[in-house]
Amino acid sequence: MTILRAPHPQQAAALSDLCLRSKAVWGYDAAFLEACRPALTLTDEDWADSDLQIAVDGDRILGMAQVRTNERIAELDKLFIEPAARAGGLGRKLFGWCVQAARARGATVMTIDADPWAADFYRRMGAVDDGMIVSTVIPGRFLPRLKLELNGGSMANR
Ligand SMILES: CC(C)(COP(=O)(O)OP(=O)(O)OC[C@H]1O[C@@H](n2cnc3c(N)ncnc32)[C@H](O)[C@@H]1OP(=O)(O)O)[C@@H](O)C(=O)NCCC(=O)NCCS
Repeated sequence: MTILRAPHPQQAAALSDLCLRSKAVWGYDAAFLEACRPALTLTDEDWADSDLQIAVDGDRILGMAQVRTNERIAELDKLFIEPAARAGGLGRKLFGWCVQAARARGATVMTIDADPWAADFYRRMGAVDDGMIVSTVIPGRFLPRLKLELNGGSMANR
């Protein structure tokens, strides 16, 4: 049975590996993934300044999510599902946790700077397009920015 819980800081390396494996499902080449590595590497600071959650089945980690909240604005920083566990509802579950975590900290909106291949997933969860942003990882790359108002409902809770 898969449950959601907070990860331990000792799991940082395993979570960083999961993020990279998950990112790779879109077919990016090795150089691109290497450029993403620093942004996808978790450190002790992540435990100090953000909310983290993992989906686990026994001792297997099947997904992770991270939200940073600054006053009324939350940012969905990471949402990564283990490749073999995709399309089984875990993305929706962890997205729902992100919404709850952001609301619990008093946020009224959650922003998502999405991988272009994942943008339709976030639209499915109720997020709406809010322009494009420049990638901080790859110069010249643009990413769709989406946002979810946290006062209304979300597909994540259905
Ligand atoms: C995007 C991701 C988080 C989705 O998680 P998932 O567990 O596969 O998604 P779920 O099974 O919970 O899907 C929920 C719904 O979204 C839809 N969906 C999932 N991924 C989708 C996509 N890429 N495009 C469009 N719809 C998608 C599903 O069909 C499902 O629809 P339903 O409401 O009809 O049932 C997952 O594919 C992933 O980790 N991708 C690689 C890493 C990545 O890009 N993460 C996002 C970084 S911004």
